[in-house]
Amino acid sequence: MGSFCGSLKCKRDSSRKECNECLEKGKKIKVVFVMGGPGSGKGTQCAKIVQQFGYTHLSAGELLRKEINSGSENGTMIQNMMNEGKLVPSDLTVRLILKAMQESDNDKFLIDGFPRNEENLKAFENHIKIEPNFILFLDCPEEEMTRRLLSRNQGREDDNIETIRKRFRVYEESTLPLVDYFASKGKVHKVDAARPVEEVFESVKTLFSSTEEQVSAGYLLKS
Ligand code: ADP
Ligand code: C5P
Ligand code: MG
Repeated sequence: MGSFCGSLKCKRDSSRKECNECLEKGKKIKVVFVMGGPGSGKGTQCAKIVQQFGYTHLSAGELLRKEINSGSENGTMIQNMMNEGKLVPSDLTVRLILKAMQESDNDKFLIDGFPRNEENLKAFENHIKIEPNFILFLDCPEEEMTRRLLSRNQGREDDNIETIRKRFRVYEESTLPLVDYFASKGKVHKVDAARPVEEVFESVKTLFSSTEEQVSAGYLLKS
């Protein structure tokens, strides 16, 4: 896999320092990791952040589901891992994230459901080499997440109680320690995600407003 040279336009297999071709070299790219348990509301809040703040939303799970539906040779393996609630090999997930970033013209990204374990993070550091600006952590009790997943109704095969339990164990064992790691670096903004959608978004909005210039649709049209 090629590493990311630092520009969204550059498709060269080159490290940032060595890439002389790229006119946009050095362009600052913002990355926010959106972490939280299955059903904590990551996708829901990301959609609202996109509307209000102009980020591009990349859900790792969504990218993997698209890969399955594209008829990729990895499709069956990904499907089997998902049905077991397991994490797919990180190089594959990171390759999909990198491709989506390169195909976008945007320079700010919400990366949702990623990283899920230490291997995910290492692969991101190796191949994409962008330090996340901060981590939005949606904190929600398992009981509430279970209720939400069982009534999500999006036809997802992994939204059944048996797989949900396995996904929670992976979350506890592999993802939460990573949240602690980022917290020790002062990077985590924790939001109580057990509240109604709009209340959660009020907190999320306050957080993003303090780190971002607001990109409302009206502002974009006028400029
Ligand atoms: P995630 O991406 O973290 O798995 P989703 O955003 O898909 O979670 O939300 C899971 C389900 O819960 C969806 O059906 C969504 O409509 C619902 N949901 C999301 N946030 C809330 C909330 N704050 N309160 C109640 N239901 C919610
Ligand atoms: O985030 P989402 O609930 O859509 O993820 C669904 C599944 O996709 C996970 O349970 C896991 O099997 C897979 N996944 C992964 N690695 C990630 C994100 C998701 O393997 N970083
Ligand atoms: Mg989701």
